[in-house]
Amino acid sequence: MIAVQCFGLNGDFLNETIEAGLATTEEAFMYFNGRLSAVDRARIAVWLVRENSMPQNGRRGYLFRGSFMAGARQSIHGQWSSRWVFFLAATGSAVGLGNIWRFPYVTGENGGGAFVIIYLLCVAAVGIPIMMAETLIGRRGRQSPINTMRLLAEDEGVSSKWHYLGWMGVVAGFLILSFYSVVAGWSVAYIFYVGSGVFAQTTVEASAAQFTALTDSAWELLGWHTLFMIMTVVVIARGVQGGIEQAVKWLMPALFVLLLIVVGYAIATGDFSGAISYLFKPDFSEVTANSVLAALGQAFFSLSLGMGAIMIYGSYLPADASIPRTVVAVAVCDTVVALLAGLAIFPIVFAFGLEPNGGPGLVFVTLTIAFGHMPGGQIFGALFFVLLTVAAWTSAISILEPIVAWLIESSGWSRRRASVSAGLGAWVLGIGALLSFNYWAEFTLLGKTFFDWCEFLTTSVMLPAGGLLIAIFAGWRMSRASTMEELGLSDGAIYSTWRFLVQVVAPIGVLAIFVNVLVVFLRDLGVFD
Ligand code: PFF
Repeated sequence: MIAVQCFGLNGDFLNETIEAGLATTEEAFMYFNGRLSAVDRARIAVWLVRENSMPQNGRRGYLFRGSFMAGARQSIHGQWSSRWVFFLAATGSAVGLGNIWRFPYVTGENGGGAFVIIYLLCVAAVGIPIMMAETLIGRRGRQSPINTMRLLAEDEGVSSKWHYLGWMGVVAGFLILSFYSVVAGWSVAYIFYVGSGVFAQTTVEASAAQFTALTDSAWELLGWHTLFMIMTVVVIARGVQGGIEQAVKWLMPALFVLLLIVVGYAIATGDFSGAISYLFKPDFSEVTANSVLAALGQAFFSLSLGMGAIMIYGSYLPADASIPRTVVAVAVCDTVVALLAGLAIFPIVFAFGLEPNGGPGLVFVTLTIAFGHMPGGQIFGALFFVLLTVAAWTSAISILEPIVAWLIESSGWSRRRASVSAGLGAWVLGIGALLSFNYWAEFTLLGKTFFDWCEFLTTSVMLPAGGLLIAIFAGWRMSRASTMEELGLSDGAIYSTWRFLVQVVAPIGVLAIFVNVLVVFLRDLGVFD
């Protein structure tokens, strides 16, 4: 016999325990479905179904078995109104500082065209298959990454240890958000700097001094960081449909228009052909093992993979939406935006004879010099930083959402309370990141500040590791039937290609890169040369 319990959002029993001769989980599920209104169903935090035993000590399990159940699951957090909204939200997550701030400078540091080609290969062969895997896992589990992994491991009859993958995502989310919010804060600050004409006729030294003045001032950084974190929390606190969906529905079209304006401006006023040949003429003599690593890490970061952001967005995807088609569209858009960002930035950089390898300051120091000397640079420059801020905002939302969803599920807190708490946690860590530029600049471990460590640990270690585990889980731990059903594919060439990529290509690719990181790391430590 099966016993069924059901918890309400605030942790109380919403329904009495039922031990009413339900023989199978299917029967139990039908029983509940029949008794609860759609609203109740949406509000229930956790379902419990245990064969023969009720869970002890109030621990909340949620064991619905089998594909019948997977198809019938609903997220307690809500659902996107359509596949289109998932596309907007996932693109909003993917397109961010990674595309506009990080991609150009990492490309600049790694020599241009050859790096771009390797990056494109990483996106196609590793990024897209893993993004499909993450989305399908999310939709099948329909809970926060931690609980989804626990549930699907149960579904597939494999070790429940897989839920630690979700935990790594929570840790990675906090670490990413801490430095992300600080850089996003710079971007907000620069809207006002550039818009007020600070950079008119500026020089290289003056622009660098302006950037240093900002990063030197802990209080100012704290102000911008706080503002950005509040913006993020406010959207999340309003819920999936009421907050995130509304935000991306307005912000993503705005982002698109801003991008067109900025690229058009760069093409009209800058050295466009110089940028094209820099970005697309490969010089493979510049490629090192390091740049391959940089390309893969950048692909994970840019596509928001490996920490559960895409997984949680997948958990809100309507059941009838095609995952392969939507995911490919998201990845293509993300890549196009990164390339467009390059096409917006490098023409200006070259037109002014500046260096393309300006590092993290590229957008803030180099580009503003150019804006200061161009017709309309004050307005277009400010628009550029509005673009960067909006892109960062829709990404930050997706970094926090898996954590908030988990807090709601596990503690029964209201969404508002969970959002504020998670935001507060990330805000505190962010203080460490912003102090790395001033008071704590001297506190380094192996030459890296707290900020550097957050960036390194997440982009080079945790996201690739998370992606590797997701690929292994989807490729080797889930049955063909489950993945095929969730992807909506028949057993043909497309499915076989996807499976080959997640089973073999992605894991080998990531592992090879990891060995490399280790070698580089040990060499930097002076273990060998
Ligand atoms: N994809 C985002 C960007 O390119 O800026 C960053 C990001 C978002 C990374 C969400 C990870 C994540 F889960």
